[in-house]
This record gives sequence, structure tokens and C-alpha cells, in this order.
Amino acid sequence: MSSFVVKTKVFSGVDAFHNLKNFDIKHACIITDPFVISSGMSKLLTDVLDEMGVEYRIFSDIVPDPPIEVIVEGVGRILDHQPDAVIAMGGGSAIDSAKSINYFYIRTKAEQKPLFVAIPTTSGTGSEVTEFSVITDRQANVKYPLVNELLLPDVALLDPRLTLSVPPTVTADTGMDVLTHAIEAYVSLSATDFSDTLAEKAIEIIFQYLPKAFDNGNDIVAREKLHNASCMAGMAFNNAQLGINHSIAHAIGAKMHVPHGRANAIILPYVIAFNAGLRVISQDDCSYAMEKYTALAKMMHVGAGSGRQSVKNLIARIEDLARALDIPTSLRAQGISEEEYKKFRNEIASTAMADTCTPSNPRKPTTHQLRELLDMCYYETAL
Ligand SMILES: [Fe+2]
Repeated sequence: MSSFVVKTKVFSGVDAFHNLKNFDIKHACIITDPFVISSGMSKLLTDVLDEMGVEYRIFSDIVPDPPIEVIVEGVGRILDHQPDAVIAMGGGSAIDSAKSINYFYIRTKAEQKPLFVAIPTTSGTGSEVTEFSVITDRQANVKYPLVNELLLPDVALLDPRLTLSVPPTVTADTGMDVLTHAIEAYVSLSATDFSDTLAEKAIEIIFQYLPKAFDNGNDIVAREKLHNASCMAGMAFNNAQLGINHSIAHAIGAKMHVPHGRANAIILPYVIAFNAGLRVISQDDCSYAMEKYTALAKMMHVGAGSGRQSVKNLIARIEDLARALDIPTSLRAQGISEEEYKKFRNEIASTAMADTCTPSNPRKPTTHQLRELLDMCYYETAL
């Protein structure tokens, strides 16, 4: 038996904010980051709240990789205010922080669960429709993942205008993160026909529109498509989970501070080759992954006579896309020194092995295989 759940109401398009008027909100707490305020983006939200006569307070102290202290501060503010709506607006960090703040607020003192609204300003994490969040303990250098249904937003507003100011490099990295979410969800051991459909559409959109948004950030059509793709991929992986691409990217991000989407993009071709058993004739059964990647290759019109060649063609398409987005082809080309790489290699492999994304990967890796895979990603071993 399988299940597929989409709880969040999604409103998309340039008039998405006006859908807030469908909800009975009197007191709101807006959780965001300083850029959303200084750029004026928050005005799109507050103008609608003013029209509705909503009394609101703004907590705008969110920083990247939100530490426990910021979450505690946010919970304190929200406890004072007792809002009937919590509105998260910003990138992945702002939405993740708001999820945690709202979660601890509900668990400690909320008399009634507030309406939880997520408004993403980047097209990448899909956090507006997932039940995951991460809190960082900076003193212990540890990230704590939270997984709970209470973290899932009730409403997501996808207004593409919010993403127009995202610079090309970030557009590329976050877009490749979306592609990785979709591909990993598609080949996950927990994939279903329902998650596959969303993953396929997200992949199609990324290939068609990511280069356009990268070349022209003001292309509102491309921005809207990417915003929708990010959300669709989020729905797919919220149900189907992810795989070792993310396990490795999490560990690389923590140790070598490579942006999340960039790390995913660099290692994606190597992970596909590993999962499909392309490089070495393996004793592992790679037929499931091979079958799914072949289906994707066919969907993208690069299917070939054999599954092996189809997967190679799929990888070539991904490499072409990454090249068009100026994404380096290896961890070394990303600027990581060999000394630093060797220092963290074994720890990254062990951490990735224990990551929550690893069990749903289509091929069960060993720690030794992950170390070999990392070497390929660093030294750019031919696939
Ligand atoms: Fe991701």
C-alpha cells in the first residue's frame, strides 16, 4: 500500500497574495529575513494585510542556517502576540525557521493552531509544501532535522515577482536543486505514480525554463514556471523522499560550505551513474534505478536502444544544462583544495551514510562506495 498526501493549499501567479482574503485573519506574525524588508518585497504582503484590516507584527531576524537562538527568540515573540496566522516569507531559511517557530509555539502554548502561510522568494527548496525543517546548533556544529506534520504549511502563495531579483548564480543553483529533488523523488524506493507525475513535470519545466531565467532574470514566464516546478518537486519528495545525492550534498555543505544546490548539481551525474551501476559491472541489483532513469531519458527524447545508453544520454543532457548555467563539473573545479577534500572525505562519506535521505536511495551504498563516489566527484572521473 502507498499513500500520497498534499495538504497545503497552493495559490500561484502574480495575484496570489489576494487569496489571503479567503481566510479569516485578525492578528498575524510575519517571519522573514532583513532582505525581504529592505528590498520592499514585504510590501506586497503588508499592503494586502492592510486592506484586510489585519493587525500584524514582523520578526525579521532570520539568518541563513537558522541557529537555535533565533528560533527561541522567534518563539518568545510569537508567544507574546498569540497570532491566528503565522506568515513565513523568504528563502528556505526563513520558511524553515518559521516552521520550527510555529511548531514549538503550537507544542508549548497555542490555544488554537494558527493558519500557517508560506511565501517563498526563491525557487528551490519546495519548503512551502514539505514537513521538514532543520535547526543548527552552532556551538556543537550540528544540524538537527525536524520531521513532523505540524511543520507543513496550510497555504502556499507562489508569486513569481518575488523571484525576479534572484541573481543568475543563485537561480542556477536553486534550479538545479529543484532538478535534483525531482530526479531523486522519481527514482526513490518510495516513489509512486502520484509523485512520479509531479517529478516528471518539474523536470520538464527545469530543462525548458531554467536556462531562460538564468539568461534573463526578468523573464516572468520562466520565473513563474520555475516557482511552480520547485513546489511540484517539493510535493513529490515530501511523499517519496530523496536519496544519496542529498545525503552527500548535506555533508559537503556542512564541512566544505558549498551552496546546497551547487553541491547537488556537481554530484548529480555521478550519483546517477552509481545508482544505475553504469561504471562498473556491479553485483548489486541496479535494475530498478536503470528502469526509472531510462523512462526519464525517453520522456526527454534521449532514449536509446539500451538502458545503459539511455542513462548515459540522460547524464549528458544534465551535464549540458549544468554547463549552460556555468556550474563547475567537479568539486575541485568548485575551488575546494585537495588538502581540504582529503581532510573531510571520510567524514563526509560516513555522515552521508547515516543521513535520513540514504534509506530511500534506489541502490544501497556502502561507506566505501560513497568514498569512491566522492573521489569521482572531486577528481571528475569520466563516467
Ligand atoms: Fe535540496
